[in-house]
Amino acid sequence: MVPVNIDKELCTGCGFCVDICPYKAIQLVGGKAEYMLMEDCFSCGHCQAVCPVDAVSMDGLVSDLSFSTFSELQGMVQPGTGKVSELVSLMRSRRSCRRYQAKTVSLNLLEDLVKIGTTAPSGTNSQSWRFIILPERDNILMLGDLTADYYRNLNRQARNGILRFLVKLSGGDSLGKYYRRYHDSVAEALREWDEEGRDRLFHGAVAAILVTGRKDASCPAEDALLATQNILLAAHVMGLGSCLIGFVVEAMRRNSGMKNKMGLDAGEEIYSVIALGYPDIKYQRPANRKPVMAKILRFKRDRV
Ligand SMILES: Cc1cc2nc3c(=O)[nH]c(=O)nc-3n(C[C@H](O)[C@H](O)[C@H](O)COP(=O)(O)O)c2cc1C
Repeated sequence: MVPVNIDKELCTGCGFCVDICPYKAIQLVGGKAEYMLMEDCFSCGHCQAVCPVDAVSMDGLVSDLSFSTFSELQGMVQPGTGKVSELVSLMRSRRSCRRYQAKTVSLNLLEDLVKIGTTAPSGTNSQSWRFIILPERDNILMLGDLTADYYRNLNRQARNGILRFLVKLSGGDSLGKYYRRYHDSVAEALREWDEEGRDRLFHGAVAAILVTGRKDASCPAEDALLATQNILLAAHVMGLGSCLIGFVVEAMRRNSGMKNKMGLDAGEEIYSVIALGYPDIKYQRPANRKPVMAKILRFKRDRV
């Protein structure tokens, strides 16, 4: 928790911070806002953001994210003032990239993407995500080798009918399902990786960002995936192609050796692996979508 400081000289007692606080951690005392140090306060900073006279500060949190590849606009985009057409166009134009140029992505750009990731919401404002940047193709290949070892072993187990039977007896058919759905295509991808140097895992990406989170945070998976989506959209605007690599996430989750190698500690889980690089392909039109079916519910409240 980061304590809130209120400059009593500046405070006009308007009470905006009192009203906005989700935990009543601020009260008006003698016409001035006063912060009651409360365990529940999760340092969301709404009190600071809403103050008309800038009387609220929070030491230890930074307002300037110090991007190095672009200048951030100052101020807020107030509701109703952004261009929804541009936003939606950006969202629809992002595609998973599976063809990259060999060109390196600068570390500055990758670090800026991580900072952009941290602008996402997080459960109880825990911001407990962590990011691991792999800035070189060699790093990607090493992670690819570890992933290939994992699936080679899994394929070996899945081919074993007795093992599949025993797993089924113990209450699940995960190995059988894997065998039926993935074994053959994974075997072929492994053969291509080993014999032809063909990369059907990262698709030739030159960099990657791994998004992890503290397992004991309130919503670590959601936090990490929201940060991930920010990164995917920003990467597109910054000229990069990106692709989520679920196969690596799955391998890392089940293999502590891979986690150790990637620098995760025991309290940390992997939630996404984002392959990145300059695209070697240009799409001419956005993705079509399945027709949307939203259920609309209207009912009368049965309590008064
Ligand atoms: C959780 C998740 C895991 C994914 N894993 C992979 C993957 O391992 N390899 C891959 O090529 N694409 C992967 N993708 C990309 C999806 O295939 C892609 O998002 C989907 O086909 C829609 O295409 P689009 O992203 O171009 O709109 C993954 C996407 C998600 C959301």
